[in-house]
Amino acid sequence: MAENFDVIVIGAGPGGYVAAIRAAQLGLKVAVAEKRATLGGTCLNVGCIPSKALLQSSENYHEALHGFADHGITLGSVSIDIARMQARKAEVVGANTKGIEFLFKKNKVTWLKGEAKFTGPNAVEVAGQGYTAKHIIIATGSDSVPLKGIEVDEKKIVTSTGALELDKVPGRLVVIGAGVIGLELGSVWRRLGAEVTVVEFLDRITPGMDNELSKSFQQILTKQGFTFKLGTKVTSAKVEGDEVALTLEPAKGGEAETLKADVVLLAIGRYAYTGGLNLEAAGVATDERGRVKVDHHYATNVPGVYAIGDVIAGPMLAHKAEEEGVALAEILAGQAGHVNYGAIPGVVYTWPEVATVGATEEGLKAQGVAYKVGKFPFMANGRARAMGALEGFVKLLSDKTTDKLLGAHIIGPDAGALIAECVTALEFGASAEDVARTCHAHPTLSEVVKEAALAADGRALHI
Ligand code: FAD
Ligand code: NAI
Repeated sequence: MAENFDVIVIGAGPGGYVAAIRAAQLGLKVAVAEKRATLGGTCLNVGCIPSKALLQSSENYHEALHGFADHGITLGSVSIDIARMQARKAEVVGANTKGIEFLFKKNKVTWLKGEAKFTGPNAVEVAGQGYTAKHIIIATGSDSVPLKGIEVDEKKIVTSTGALELDKVPGRLVVIGAGVIGLELGSVWRRLGAEVTVVEFLDRITPGMDNELSKSFQQILTKQGFTFKLGTKVTSAKVEGDEVALTLEPAKGGEAETLKADVVLLAIGRYAYTGGLNLEAAGVATDERGRVKVDHHYATNVPGVYAIGDVIAGPMLAHKAEEEGVALAEILAGQAGHVNYGAIPGVVYTWPEVATVGATEEGLKAQGVAYKVGKFPFMANGRARAMGALEGFVKLLSDKTTDKLLGAHIIGPDAGALIAECVTALEFGASAEDVARTCHAHPTLSEVVKEAALAADGRALHI
């Protein structure tokens, strides 16, 4: 007899593992099928966590080389041990993935080790063993989008997974795609000494982000030594001995050029991953981009089958997947789970960080919403001066008539932490004045958020 559960989750990434823990907290009998040798999905194994470990190491190295002298700190010769840096990254990842195993045990969640495939609407098979469940949650995540004519070997032509594993600093790194992965991992290797050229199809970086923020971001990265080739497509990349030869063409047509690289990072987006799931056996429908189709309660077209995270529509972010995991578990337990898609932050963990939430200026214009802009630079903040981190600004957008906060866009030190206040304000339907009248500790970077809120009413104090 196939063992029966209340809930079987397929995939132990931030969507799946969080859904499982929450469902177990609510008294359901839960199992999670995961084919990877460790829990935590893309995020913990080859995504958020290892990338942040390398960003931290490379930032420390860069500071030691270029930042400490200004503080009067003299170091002997500074060098980087890539093997140690990678070993530390592996330790960080290991501690995190083990942490999820601990949480599964604590919450009595069963880990079904192996690839799950549907054998019917309420049944799956994992490692040759059949299981049934009242509810099955697809949380199989995403994978890197391939590019025609470019063969990834994860050594010379890499996806993010290979870019996290390089054992030496490439002399020349060419990044295809000026999105989040390209700029974060490009930053890691740039700080460690690589010449980084980013080739982007569109005529701007980070599409979808508030344009003013993107422009400032590009300028700052250019000062750091990044080279951008915008409005350009890569038509081929071939490994030739120790090098990779790329052919580039203007996106709108024109003469081709050749570019040589030691390593090429392909980072042109991710696609919903349902490989091996045998969705047909359950009859689960997907959309034109292969994403599992769901309604507002994460239900697919098949009763009892649900989907969350990167495998459904929406931003491919770990915290979005987590929120969906919690909401769905609560819905399955008879509660009223809900995700506010208007208040999901996005953070790019470069230096400086870039963080956004809510509407962009371009979005408000397109919708015909009248808005006010409150902007304040980090340069005019005492703490930022003390830190020597003067680049960037906070930009708040609020409704012209009601002053309700509609969007927040930050480029600057610790932007990822600063955006949390703006997300809370959005969630609570606060006005810019609410933020402006809130006492912010001095001297902190958060005062820049307060000043931007004051600026929305033309009354910033320190500029
Ligand atoms: P995933 O984390 O992809 O997990 C899916 C799991 O399902 C995988 O472990 C897979 O092995 C398993 N699986 C698939 N099919 C089966 C099957 N049939 N049977 C059993 N198991 C299966 N997001 C952020 O918010 N912040 C960041 O800083 C960030 N950094 C990133 C950096 C990189 C380099 C990358 C690639 C991504 C990053 N992301 C970041 C995105 C984030 O990793 C994803 O949004 C998140 O992991 C999605 O979670 P998920 O649970 O939907 O899927
Ligand atoms: P992305 O969607 O952020 O960026 C891809 C870029 O490639 C875009 O600028 C796009 O215009 C460009 N592009 C597409 N096709 C191209 C082509 N043929 N030639 C040149 N450029 C092309 O995707 P990315 O960077 O791969 O990241 C994937 C996902 O992972 C993102 O959705 C992101 O949300 C998530 N992620 C999140 C992070 C974070 O939250 N800090 C960090 C890393 C990844």
